[in-house]
Amino acid sequence: MKIYLDTANLAEIREAARWGILSGVTTNPSLMAREAGAGFEDTIRTIAGLVDGPISAETVSEDADGMVREGVEYAAWHSNVIIKVPATTAGLEAVARLGRRGIRCNVTLIFNANQALMAALAGAFVVSPFIGRLDDISQDGMELIREIAAVFEQDPDIRTQILAASIRHPRHVIESALAGAHIATCPFGVLEKGMRHPLTDSGNAAFLADWRAREAAMALAAAAGH
Ligand code: E4P
Repeated sequence: MKIYLDTANLAEIREAARWGILSGVTTNPSLMAREAGAGFEDTIRTIAGLVDGPISAETVSEDADGMVREGVEYAAWHSNVIIKVPATTAGLEAVARLGRRGIRCNVTLIFNANQALMAALAGAFVVSPFIGRLDDISQDGMELIREIAAVFEQDPDIRTQILAASIRHPRHVIESALAGAHIATCPFGVLEKGMRHPLTDSGNAAFLADWRAREAAMALAAAAGH
């Protein structure tokens, strides 16, 4: 299971990149809109300089011609840029046309296994099932990952990777891996929470306190001439 960061915030990307865990980054128009004043091209180019792996840049056109035009432009920014298109019939056409030019695509906003299968058959590099948004409407996001994994498994020609998206909490990451996802794209806060455990904190505090007590005892012994 690989971890991508789901953000367009450069400070978050810089910090998580320092942890040595990132294999890629996903952005989307809503995440870009949160970064007031940041240019799209500059942001994507900067991210590509920080993280050595696929960087998703999402198209905003509603027809295949527009998606292809945007895709060709964004892919020229860096060899790691992959083009995010929505799971629509126009998106499928864009994936097929961009694929013929050697440009990789992430088909996003996947909410059923049919969308994932057709995206894979069109040549998607990754598909992004949105598990949190399904959970939000009382459907089972993890069941969708399991279904897609089983469908892909059944056809040895499918090389498309499953990228679990719309991750809400650390258990989603582990459950996605167990359900067959290859990648989870996570908000920064989910990664931070995933490394927290009260027993780690209390254990570390106890180790440090014991070490300090030992040092103090040795200093006293040295002062007493022992
Ligand atoms: C994936 O690539 C999307 O950017 C993202 O995971 C959307 O998640 P949300 O439901 O938190 O907006």
